[in-house]
Amino acid sequence: MLRVACLPGDGIGPEVTAAAIEVLHALPVDVEVEEHSFGGGAILAEGTPLPDRTLAACKAADAVILGAVGLPELEGAQVRPEQGLIALRRALDVYANLRPATGPSIDLLIVRELVGGLYYGASGRRPDGSAYDTCDYTPAAIERVARRAFELAGARRAHVTSVDKANVLETSRLWRETVVRVAVDYPNVELEHMLVDTAGLNVVQQPGRFDVILTENTFGDILSDVAAGMCGGLGLAASASLGDGRPGIFEPVHGSAPDIAGQGIANPAAMLRSVALLLRHAADEPALATSLERAIDHALVATPTTDQGGTATTAQFAESVLDEMLNAVR
Ligand code: NAD
Ligand code: IPM
Ligand code: MN
Repeated sequence: MLRVACLPGDGIGPEVTAAAIEVLHALPVDVEVEEHSFGGGAILAEGTPLPDRTLAACKAADAVILGAVGLPELEGAQVRPEQGLIALRRALDVYANLRPATGPSIDLLIVRELVGGLYYGASGRRPDGSAYDTCDYTPAAIERVARRAFELAGARRAHVTSVDKANVLETSRLWRETVVRVAVDYPNVELEHMLVDTAGLNVVQQPGRFDVILTENTFGDILSDVAAGMCGGLGLAASASLGDGRPGIFEPVHGSAPDIAGQGIANPAAMLRSVALLLRHAADEPALATSLERAIDHALVATPTTDQGGTATTAQFAESVLDEMLNAVR
């Protein structure tokens, strides 16, 4: 029995997780799903984006399905939904965030360090009105995510592009040294280094040259939206946040999309592809993951949502995926 903690969150989060849970329940997997309060809704109801109950349930689960967080009315507030997401990633120590981007002439995997760097360093305001955020990395934090990237590359096209800003930043020079040291243990995987500005250009101009992109937290956040933009947009971009032996978080790359929330038109493909990643990385069901991915690809052609130039609603897209899955079994 696979125990899944589901955190729908805000905006289109609950719309896409509803589709995910419907599809998950229709698959031949023994799964139990429990929903928990998280994000902006949790702030408004109980004053915190990550209630203790929710965190305990995530720690006890085999996997976490997460929709999205973010409420316009809480932008700039003292307590913000995004803090819950950042705290949850750290509490589960999901240091490796896998963000695949696939399309007609692009098949790359971003491995983003997820529990360090600017997001977690010392930050604050000073009496003189200035503000600061600190980027901080230990060799151990870089080493473990680098190992994950080399292992994943070994099962792909055996090429890692490590992205940094070593011409300016000390943390990037440490990043590069550490990655070079780790690479010695993976002689069959080719390593190159690239500065992050150049990487942004190349993801747009020559996306086909990349296999695995290994990078730190902030650069990975930005590059993964750029890569998503190269393959159909945020409605399609999935992610898996993995640690060692703890539950992973399976979350789309997109946010709560306040501009389309409540209309039932969000594309659930990013969330459903994240469920496929769950089947592969948390449920040991690689064949089922592949058939779900095929069914999603089919639905993207047969019943596209509005972001893909079609007219299908979130629910109609999910139905189409389910129909296609059942057809494939028959
Ligand atoms: P966003 O990803 O929510 O939306 C960007 C654009 O993409 C919008 O036009 C939106 O309509 C579109 N879009 C996103 N997902 C879509 C989908 N599934 N189907 C169709 N269209 C989709 O980014 P934003 O507007 O910059 O941020 C809104 C809020 O979400 C902010 O509060 C931000 O902090 C938060 N956020 C949360 C997460 C997360 O929970 N993992 C990720 C990113 C942003
Ligand atoms: C993402 C989001 C988050 C991040 C925010 C909402 C904290 O943009 O998952 O890409 O920056 O990691
Ligand atoms: Mn992002």
